[in-house]
Amino acid sequence: MIVLTLETTCDETAAAVVTDQLEVLASVVASQDALHERFRGVVPEIAARAHVQRLLPVVDEALRQAQVPLADLSAIAVANTPGLAGSLLIGLVAAKTLCVVLRKPLVAVNHLHAHIYACRLASGVDVFPCVGLIVSGGHTTLYRCASPSQFEWLGGTIDDAAGEAFDKVASMLGLTYPGGPAIARVAEGGNPRAYAFPRPLLRETSHLDFSFSGLKTAVRYAIAGQGPCDFAALRLPPEQVADVAASFQQAVVDCLVGRAVLAMRRTGLRRLCVGGGVAANRLFREQLAGVMAAADVELHVAPLALCTDNAVMGAIAVERLRAGEVEPLELDVLPGLVRPA
Ligand code: KG4
Ligand code: ZN
Repeated sequence: MIVLTLETTCDETAAAVVTDQLEVLASVVASQDALHERFRGVVPEIAARAHVQRLLPVVDEALRQAQVPLADLSAIAVANTPGLAGSLLIGLVAAKTLCVVLRKPLVAVNHLHAHIYACRLASGVDVFPCVGLIVSGGHTTLYRCASPSQFEWLGGTIDDAAGEAFDKVASMLGLTYPGGPAIARVAEGGNPRAYAFPRPLLRETSHLDFSFSGLKTAVRYAIAGQGPCDFAALRLPPEQVADVAASFQQAVVDCLVGRAVLAMRRTGLRRLCVGGGVAANRLFREQLAGVMAAADVELHVAPLALCTDNAVMGAIAVERLRAGEVEPLELDVLPGLVRPA
């Protein structure tokens, strides 16, 4: 089987061609970072319009790289949840159109499950059952993953996602967008103990949720006090920017590692798979690896190229296709995250 996978959940326009043996025949990602940079965050309408312009060229390029004619595709897969409504719709309409014209089956991909599946692709071996942790710009979520089609919600952020906190704090510090890599870069020269930022929910063991908005606010108070503030006019000295970045980054990493440890303890599982853009963070990868090795947990963190949004991880569609889980053309987008009440 050869599957074309589409990814337009947020601000990356991506297409990949994968086989049922999980060979990646092509992967194309058109990043929109340059379009959103001056807003220091993703502007949904701009993202959707850019997907309209870019998706077909990206699909063409993927098919060209793979040297697979459209007629040879076995199915079209598309991430239809969760994400920005307008962005999701562009991918879904394109996928449905290809399915109608080519008379091929349509397969739905859950973007968060796909982030975990990136670990399966990279490791080359079965990684299920495992605990799955997704740390991205839009999500910070823990799942018990019994199989590629059984994901049980364990916990998630009750306010901001970890990546969103990175992006907002970077904006306060006058750093570039996306904020995660920018903070990681300047934090190299800073002292992670310079500021005693809070570690929200770290000591809370009755559930597996996360919270990052209070940490973000603590950074704001530390650099600008409690009154109104024009961050663009702050002009903090570079040493202070480095110290705030390093202290903030350490606080986020402590929270993520602490919740991951608790999730392993509560589920009794021995394998952890981590994906999403924030999983590209070097400090997080190193500290998580140290803690999980000490706890005798088998750790899989998605390789850098598969951490941020891409269509290769949509290869999880192969599992669904094998199980006969194809969708009617009435399939809709589901922008919100489905979490238990
Ligand atoms: O998974 P992703 O590409 O998109 C979403 O599905 O949200 O994640 C993007 C997020 C952004 O918030 C970005 O700042 C963050 O991942 N990010 C990082 C790093 N690289 C990307 N955060 C911390 N450290 C990094 N090195
Ligand atoms: Zn993502």
